[in-house]
Amino acid sequence: MDAVSETKEPRYAPYANGRFQMAMGLVALDLTDWIDVDDSRAAELCEKERLLAVQHEAVFGDLPGSAPAQREVLMLLLDNLERCHPGLISCDDGMVTVAETGRTYRLAGFADHALDLAGRLVQEDLCLMTPGEEGYVLHAASLCFPARWVLAEKLGRPMMGIHEHVSGYAEKLGRPVDRFFTHLKADKPVARLNWSVVDDPALFQTSGKFRNDGQSVITPENAGDRLWLRVERQTLRRLPDSGDILFTIRTFVDPLSSLAARPDLAAGLRAAIAEMPEGMQRYKSLIPFRAALDGYLGALMERAA
Ligand code: HEM
Repeated sequence: MDAVSETKEPRYAPYANGRFQMAMGLVALDLTDWIDVDDSRAAELCEKERLLAVQHEAVFGDLPGSAPAQREVLMLLLDNLERCHPGLISCDDGMVTVAETGRTYRLAGFADHALDLAGRLVQEDLCLMTPGEEGYVLHAASLCFPARWVLAEKLGRPMMGIHEHVSGYAEKLGRPVDRFFTHLKADKPVARLNWSVVDDPALFQTSGKFRNDGQSVITPENAGDRLWLRVERQTLRRLPDSGDILFTIRTFVDPLSSLAARPDLAAGLRAAIAEMPEGMQRYKSLIPFRAALDGYLGALMERAA
């Protein structure tokens, strides 16, 4: 499925301040805002069902021992949806029904893989982290919308290993993130934003990092319709019973042309990319269309001046 965010302007613009920093960038999260719902919900939940049906192993994975924490996530999610988003789901007699899609699930059918069901109820992807010898490891995930990574390559690996290809992570973020995970309190959930510019609007992408395919067909004239802003709103919270950590990823994809009415955001994005180290630009595969992107954003700013 192609991008489904149809908002005129992007909901989140973490590049707005024109800076690029390899920082954790965590802010306190009110759990009433834990789950993000918008009008793409029905389409995205249907897309999740499709992916889970045709390539289940690519989008769901769990390791032995994760079942109790998976069940804890499902219970927290059901409770949160009923309290903070009334009407989205209904629970009755061991069944849960999603209002917009009309799909009904039997809780008992997911007793050993509760995260699979949890992922079908929200637009977020869900990653369960548990303490291991080298820090927190990915223990289970419902991951229908990966941003160019493969679940099977990360399952069971610690944070440092999961991020081994991320330019600058080991030097700048590795230790602070590990320390943060150790000390995270159940009553202090947090959120952060991550962003990229991509030449493919698909929500499910398992490859495309470090691409440098030379001459791109993208030009300053067509970049608005051939490039997309991909922003992830991520949250982290410790589960009170198991002590594991749940990482959620909510993905927003908007055409670059969504900045047309916001020259201030265009200027922020342009400056943030100019500041981004080359290693990160390579990691994000910006190089093939970097000049076209810059030209498009520059033209938007000139038009507004
Ligand atoms: C405070 C917590 C975290 C920070 C600061 C962080 C930071 C980052 C950064 C900067 C990137 C590069 C993304 C980009 O700009 O395109 C990244 C990628 C990634 N992150 Fe995290 N992350 C965090 C938590 C997690 C957790 C809990 C997971 C568990 C699944 C995770 C999985 C990944 C994966 C799979 C990638 C892509 C790696 C690749 O391309 O091989 N992150 N993260």
